[in-house]
Amino acid sequence: MRWRFMLFLALPLLLLAALPLAQGAAAASIFDTHSPSGSSIATLFWIVFGIAAVIFVGVEVALIAFTIRYRQRGEEGEPRQIFGNRRLELLWTGIPALTLAIVFGIMVVTMRGVEAGPVNDPNALTIEVIGHQWWWEYRYPDQKVVTANELHLPVGQPVHLRLRSDDVIHDFWVPALGRKMDLIPGQTNDLWVQADSPDVYTGSCAEYCGLQHAGMRLRVFADTPDDFAAWVVGQQRGEPPLSGAAAHGRTLFFQSQANCVSCHVIDGTTARDNVGPNLTHVGGRTMLAANILSNTPDNMVRWLLNPQVVKPGNRMPNLHLSENDARDLAAYLESLK
Ligand code: CUA
Repeated sequence: MRWRFMLFLALPLLLLAALPLAQGAAAASIFDTHSPSGSSIATLFWIVFGIAAVIFVGVEVALIAFTIRYRQRGEEGEPRQIFGNRRLELLWTGIPALTLAIVFGIMVVTMRGVEAGPVNDPNALTIEVIGHQWWWEYRYPDQKVVTANELHLPVGQPVHLRLRSDDVIHDFWVPALGRKMDLIPGQTNDLWVQADSPDVYTGSCAEYCGLQHAGMRLRVFADTPDDFAAWVVGQQRGEPPLSGAAAHGRTLFFQSQANCVSCHVIDGTTARDNVGPNLTHVGGRTMLAANILSNTPDNMVRWLLNPQVVKPGNRMPNLHLSENDARDLAAYLESLK
């Protein structure tokens, strides 16, 4: 009986001791923030955690001490019964109420700071984020750039994300950059993010949105201002000159058998339909299929031969392409840097 009792007491302490390990393991986590709002959320967490830890340790120590000090030592009958002690009752009502009031206060301050963002900052960059089953569309209205799945933003500059959805509810969440927010059909939500240091930050859709919810991953490239400007110029460039397999791939792309044009956009061409990701610069992306495959010619061929094997349930059907046609199409798409 006694070992069970000891285990019962030790379990919460063991869990507490394991916490720093969990923190170390989760490098791209809510504890490893790279943005002002992410940092204030993490700070709030540690303050609340600290308060809770002090209370937990205090209660456990008192519990153990009193259990040992006042255990039954062979006396007969009931112990002396004590009722009503006004000072004690005031204390154990007042202290928790005060503690909760403090936690509430710092929480409201943090929420207001994270919510507001630098609303009237003329330096802010606006990006429209549109959720689709199961990929992300990014539109830079001022730069006239549209891309998919890989979000580029400059470090040190406030970014105003305008979030909406093309179908069901999705949720944009890159833990290193702060809070998450839903993308809701028929509504636009605003989220302010700012990256402090250049890096690639990952995240995922955080609202169950169907079969490939888990395959709706996020990659945010926080670029230096120069790299970002160069990226924008690259995105504004038109189609490169083509020859050989890539030129044949282009012909296939615009033919009815492959039927790519009925779902995809390539700027400056007749491919103008927005069902699937904009492919104007697909060759320049690091990943494919909403960040589940690295962007290599072989993976592109694999995807084109049967997208339903790579990512079951996605909107792109099996086009029954021959191996050679798939290779040529991949050559064309990979040339679109
Ligand atoms: Cu989109 Cu889950």
